[in-house]
Amino acid sequence: MLAELRHITKYYEPSGSSVRNQVLDDISLQINNNERIAIVGPSGSGKSTLLNILGTLDKPSSGNVILDGNPVDQMNETRLAEIRNTFVGFVFQMHHLLPQLTLLENVLLPLLAQKDKSILKSANDRALHLIDRVGLSNHLHQYPSQLSVGECQRTAIVRALINHPRLLLADEPTGSLDAANSEQLTTLLAELNREQNIALVIVTHSMELAAKMDRIYQLREGKLSIL
Ligand SMILES: Nc1ncnc2c1ncn2[C@@H]1O[C@H](COP(=O)(O)OP(=O)(O)OP(=O)(O)O)[C@@H](O)[C@H]1O
Ligand SMILES: [Mg+2]
Repeated sequence: MLAELRHITKYYEPSGSSVRNQVLDDISLQINNNERIAIVGPSGSGKSTLLNILGTLDKPSSGNVILDGNPVDQMNETRLAEIRNTFVGFVFQMHHLLPQLTLLENVLLPLLAQKDKSILKSANDRALHLIDRVGLSNHLHQYPSQLSVGECQRTAIVRALINHPRLLLADEPTGSLDAANSEQLTTLLAELNREQNIALVIVTHSMELAAKMDRIYQLREGKLSIL
């Protein structure tokens, strides 16, 4: 098992209010190697919250997250940072590229702390290969402001893949794209899933994208159900 959520709950207690907002209610989910999962659901239903908990960017109120067989709540900060950097890759709705860095520099950002020359060399080779793979070789030294939204989103995908993650988490990756670009990005994600042997969990409003995945779940009123 690649990743697992066990009986996850999450609630927020807005300050000054005694009303508890229960966002996730006893959610369990198993993700196998190379599997493709879509999560759909109304705005505010907790999709981003669920994805962030799975990627260890947020903590559940109760329940366990197991990554690669290891419970996340038993990991120290060093191990957590390592998991975030190497086991999971994140693609957000807005690409979150740094405006002052070029496409290539953005892609290599996850290796900022890396001192090992041979690791850096192979990351650079991988970056060039993946950038070529997503059709951006002619834009290596352009800044995000000089790229289209779709190009930025493809760059963000390459950056998420640079450290060979086993699990790619994408939060509405096509949210800011038009229909044609959205279709292209969806196809790309599906192809990368096969080529790179990487599991995908995609939050989306697009049933078209969702239909390309192996399983579709709907999140509604805190519960996850298979569609
Ligand atoms: N830091 C926070 N403090 C309090 N409430 C929060 C916080 N973060 C999220 N929420 C609440 O949790 C609920 C779920 O939010 P979430 O962002 O996970 O929804 P979503 O399904 O991703 O929505 P969308 O489709 O609009 O992106 C919302 O009601 C939101 O107001
Ligand atoms: Mg969201």
